[in-house]
Formats: sequence, structure tokens, C-alpha cells
Amino acid sequence: MPQNLSTNTSDRLIEANPDCENWIVDDDSSTEAYYPQETELTVDPYRLFRFLSDLEDILLDIPGDRDRLKAIMPLVRHLLTSSYWLQMEYDQPSPKTGWSVKMLYREPEYPLTVQMVAWQPRSVSPIHNHGVWGIVALISGEEKNRFWKRSPTAEHPDRLELVGEKILQPGEIISFMPGAIHSVESIGDEPTISFNLYGETNYKQRYEFDVTNHTAKNF
Ligand SMILES: [Fe+2]
Repeated sequence: MPQNLSTNTSDRLIEANPDCENWIVDDDSSTEAYYPQETELTVDPYRLFRFLSDLEDILLDIPGDRDRLKAIMPLVRHLLTSSYWLQMEYDQPSPKTGWSVKMLYREPEYPLTVQMVAWQPRSVSPIHNHGVWGIVALISGEEKNRFWKRSPTAEHPDRLELVGEKILQPGEIISFMPGAIHSVESIGDEPTISFNLYGETNYKQRYEFDVTNHTAKNF
């Protein structure tokens, strides 16, 4: 455990807090924020296998990504407020890359991955979209999200424009439509730890952007 990571376990656990927002970032990177419903704040036991079964039902029953995100976010909140063990299931960030990913669930031929991701303090991600819907629940640390939208010109078809930002606090959940473009910075002195959930990536639609040279490339 890094020296700068709090040794008080309870400091790093998501509480059932009605002030923690849910955010949705649309394909054009516009955002919608709302507070969780009372029913999302229950700490009644909610097992990982049941969460995964409920997810499968949602993916089968709901066709649109945005409606899926709205349906899944309350389940993520319920899972995390009731499953303290899950919040501790992460690997320390690699000193080489500055981050780590611990896979909690992945099954061949099934379009879903569940991960715990850790970033060293002051790490900055490239500007990117995911080419798939995704949900990130912050468990520890502070994470600054910057939102970008496409703003093409004749000369620079991959030009971007900064349209907003949000500092994600522990207990807050942010979800992304496949076209949403963002960059992430781990701010503060602690690593950021998050619970991440993604559908099936369309790699042809997933890009990293260079905002200085106005270019984009698949990754
Ligand atoms: Fe991302």
C-alpha cells in the first residue's frame, strides 16, 4: 500500500450518500446530472452474481445505450454501497505506467467487462472516447474529467473543443455514451480508485485525440 494512501479503510468506502451525483455524458459530450433516488441508497446485501444477472437482463430488455446507462447506474450504486469487500479489490498502480486494471469479471463472447482501475496521483490520460457505453464509480481520490466535443473545420476535421469539466468525488458515478470524448486527471495526493464497467468495444469507433495537432487515431 503506498504511504500516501489512507490506512483508514472506512475513509475509502462508498457510503449511502444522497448528495453524491450521477452523471451521464452524451455522444456530443453534453452532460446531465441528477441525485440518486432513495431506493438506490439501500445497503441491503446485493451480491456480485446477482448484479451480473440483473445486468444481463437489462442488456437483453433495453435496446438503447442511454436507457441502459440510466438503468444500470442505480445497480452500481447499490452494489458498491452494500459490498465493502468489492471496494478493496484493486491492484496498486504500476510505477511504470502510473495505472493498474484488475479484472473482476470478463467472459469470452459476452459483451461486458467489470474492472477496478487505479491511477497514481497526478496521472493524466490521453483525450479519448471509448466506442462503447461505460460507467465509472469513484471509490477513492479525486478525478478531474474534461469533456470535449468535435468541432471540425475544413482544414482540421478532427478538431476538438473543450466543453466542460467535472471533478468526480468518491461515491459519484459517471457514465459515458460511446461517442463521449473525455480526458481524466488524477488530482490530489491519493491514487484514484474506481469501479469501471464497459460494454463491447467497437474498436473502429474508439479514438485518441491530439488536441494540439487536431488529429485522431484508433487505439
Ligand atoms: Fe475514459
